[in-house]
Parts: sequence; structure tokens; C-alpha cells
Amino acid sequence: MIFDWPARMRQMADFVGFTDDDLALVRASGPILLARADELTAAVYDHFLKFPAAARFFLTPDGQIDQTRLDRRKHSLARWLRHSIDFRLDEQFPVFLLAMGVVHSNPSLERGYLGSVPARFMIGTMSFAQTAIASALSQDMDDPERVLQASIAWNKLLMLQLDVLLAGYVTETPTPATLPPTASDDTDGSDPENEPLGMRRVLTNILDGNHANGAPNQSEGD
Ligand code: HEM
Repeated sequence: MIFDWPARMRQMADFVGFTDDDLALVRASGPILLARADELTAAVYDHFLKFPAAARFFLTPDGQIDQTRLDRRKHSLARWLRHSIDFRLDEQFPVFLLAMGVVHSNPSLERGYLGSVPARFMIGTMSFAQTAIASALSQDMDDPERVLQASIAWNKLLMLQLDVLLAGYVTETPTPATLPPTASDDTDGSDPENEPLGMRRVLTNILDGNHANGAPNQSEGD
């Protein structure tokens, strides 16, 4: 099956309410953010290095910071920022995002010994980027209302991107629809004893760690 990623992005753009006005705000903020591109990308990587579970992706096998790899990654992140400013809902951008997501979820042979970048750090990085962009705009733009509108536009755009970036991680396993409940079914969920069996099974699975999705093991910490 060939999946239509541009159509999916358009659907998500409608869903989050990303409009042409938002696009215009993102574009207009470009010069401000590009002037700060080095600072923004450095902040992201300084942040990674504070957390051992994220920093390990930038260390040499003997545990030193791999400055060459770090500089390459800063360069890639700046490229992503430029692409985001030039964002358009065409055929190219979703493919660029998909490829970028897969690089993180499915490590190359060279990086295989490190395993996947945990999905939670992809989500956390988007949150970090949203905060950093909003702070940069509030420092460099005069009109607070415009800062707010531009930050909202960026928040939406980054969530649209995150949906595609996580495609290499998320396997949707939808539960098929069942018949509607009858009057005799007491399944309002207010009493856990009355929860549908499926819900209890899923919860038990998650608590047992079967669906932990990379959550750190309690005994190891993280
Ligand atoms: C919003 C989140 C992120 C974005 C937009 C992003 C962006 C990028 C880009 C554009 C590349 C280059 C891809 C290519 O060569 O085609 C890259 C590679 C890489 N990123 Fe990220 N990144 C994100 C999060 C992270 C996180 C959280 C980590 C680790 C803690 C990470 C570690 C890496 C590594 C190790 C590579 C090199 C992959 C390889 O060459 O095998 N990234 N990233």
C-alpha cells in the first residue's frame, strides 16, 4: 500500500487549524529565527548533553563528546529550521520529514550499536523547540500580539511535523468497532470493576511493561 503522506499532512493541518495566515506568520518570523539559528541549534544540543540517555547519541564509543558528529547534527538541525520556515504542503516536505524520522527510529548500520533515539526525546525536542522559538520571538519582536500569533502558528506547525516524524515509531493497532452498548451493559467506567475487559487487559499489559515503548526500567533509572 502506498500511503499518501501529503494528504495526511493536509488533513492534520485542517485538524490543528493551521491556516494560510499561520503560514504567513511562520514565514515572516524567518529572518528573526535564522539570525538566531546558531544559538537555537546550540541550545538544543546543550540540552541533549545534560541528559545521559540523550547525550549517549553524541558520544564516541569510549564515552567522549563526539564534536565532529555534534557539529554535523547542528548543521542538520539548522537545515530543518530553514525547511520549516519555507514550509509548504507539497510532495517534498512530508518525504523529507519521513526520512528524517526514520533516521532516528531505525539507526543506520554505523550507529546500530546505539539503537533508536527514544520517541519520547523526539516529542521532548519539539516541546523544547516550541519554547525556544517563542522566547526568541518575544525578545526580538515589538508587538506582543504578533509574538503570540506567530508562536501559536509555530506550535501548530511543529505538531504537524511531529506526526510525520513519529511514523517510524508508532504502529497504530486500532481496536475494531463493536456493537453499541445495550441498556443492560453497565460500562460507564466509573467503577474499575465494571470496566470493559479489553480496557483492563490493555492496562495490565502496559503496567507489566509489555507496551512500555522504551520507558526506562525502574531498577535502572534513566
Ligand atoms: C524534533 C526533533 C529532532 C529533529 C527535527 C532532528 C533533526 C535531525 C536531522 C535533520 C538529522 C539529519 C538527518 C539526515 O542526515 O538525513 C538528524 C540526525 C540525527 N539526530 Fe536528530 N533531530 C531531532 C531529535 C533528535 C534527538 C532527540 C536525538 C537524540 C537524543 C537526535 C539524534 C540524532 C542523531 C544521532 C542523528 C544522526 C543519525 C545518523 O546519521 O545515523 N535527534 N536529526
